Amino acid sequence: MVSFLGVNPSDRVDLSVQVGTVRFANPIIAASGTFGYGLEFAHLVDLNRLGGTVTKGLSLHPIEGAPAPRLCETPSGMLNAVGLENVGVDAFVKEKLPLLRKYNTHLIANVFGYCLEEYVQVIERLEDAEGLSAYELNISCPNVKKGGMQFGSDPALVEEVVREAKKAAAKRPLWVKLMPLVTDIGLIGKAAELAGADALTVANTFPAMAIESRFQRSRLGNLTGGLSGPAIKPITLRLVWKVSRAVRIPVLGLGGVENVADVLDYVSVGATAVQVGTASFSDPKASEEIVGGLARGLSEVNCFNFKELTGKFSKENS
Ligand SMILES: Cc1cc2nc3c(=O)[nH]c(=O)nc-3n(C[C@H](O)[C@H](O)[C@H](O)COP(=O)(O)O)c2cc1C
Repeated sequence: MVSFLGVNPSDRVDLSVQVGTVRFANPIIAASGTFGYGLEFAHLVDLNRLGGTVTKGLSLHPIEGAPAPRLCETPSGMLNAVGLENVGVDAFVKEKLPLLRKYNTHLIANVFGYCLEEYVQVIERLEDAEGLSAYELNISCPNVKKGGMQFGSDPALVEEVVREAKKAAAKRPLWVKLMPLVTDIGLIGKAAELAGADALTVANTFPAMAIESRFQRSRLGNLTGGLSGPAIKPITLRLVWKVSRAVRIPVLGLGGVENVADVLDYVSVGATAVQVGTASFSDPKASEEIVGGLARGLSEVNCFNFKELTGKFSKENS
């Protein structure tokens, strides 16, 4: 786009965003579990160009994960049942983090546990490590001490796990990643905010399944999995819109982000930044390519920075 003065408006665009106390060069962050630890993509993507990268979920002990097949394609989306496979927090700190520190991008550690104490212990082990900008708490996990009920499905449980995690996370901001399939996501978001969350990530995958009825078997090694990709975008867009109006802390939007238009949609309904997940499976460079198109996209909606666009839809349609 060239103006009549010969100045390209996209040259004057500021792509940086502020998520609480952390400033990101741009709002594009690779989503947990879809980008390995970041290192696996470093030969394909210039990690320095991304606003940030969220690690695979980290647990107290290594986890081998679910049996194959772990992924299956669905119309406009994908099902996964990886089973939260990871090397465990200690090996992450020792082997992965020293390599990741070399990149000039924010690294966010995604954390999970099967009981409250495990969440706290993982954070405690990360506290002394250098090179992390924030924690992201995955609360879509079954709480073994409460009969397998997921942490993220009940406001009281959300408040409890976030409060304890916040006490442990003295050095860094705590983001809380919400489950999408809950009765009132605004209520859950508020519970997390009340307990001290510094930002909310909305949202995780949707519980789903795909079967082969000819053989009466699941198309995943696990019986069920999580649905992601463009198929879920209209649903998560609404969730981000709802949560953003319920809380004051920043919201990170994700679910089916594939291009600049998707980013602008999430920001318009209230997201401060977005995460790119499944798109990296079909095109590993997707996140970097989105970054490349942001300045033009923003200038095309007549904005010079993302703050001007954040929540604009909500303000104009309240
Ligand atoms: C293969 C795979 C593994 C994932 N692993 C994690 C994980 O370890 N922790 C987590 O919080 N979310 C995990 N997610 C959820 C994504 O981070 C994201 O919330 C979801 O896929 C929706 O975004 P998308 O439609 O852009 O993929 C995973 C998703 C996929 C597809």
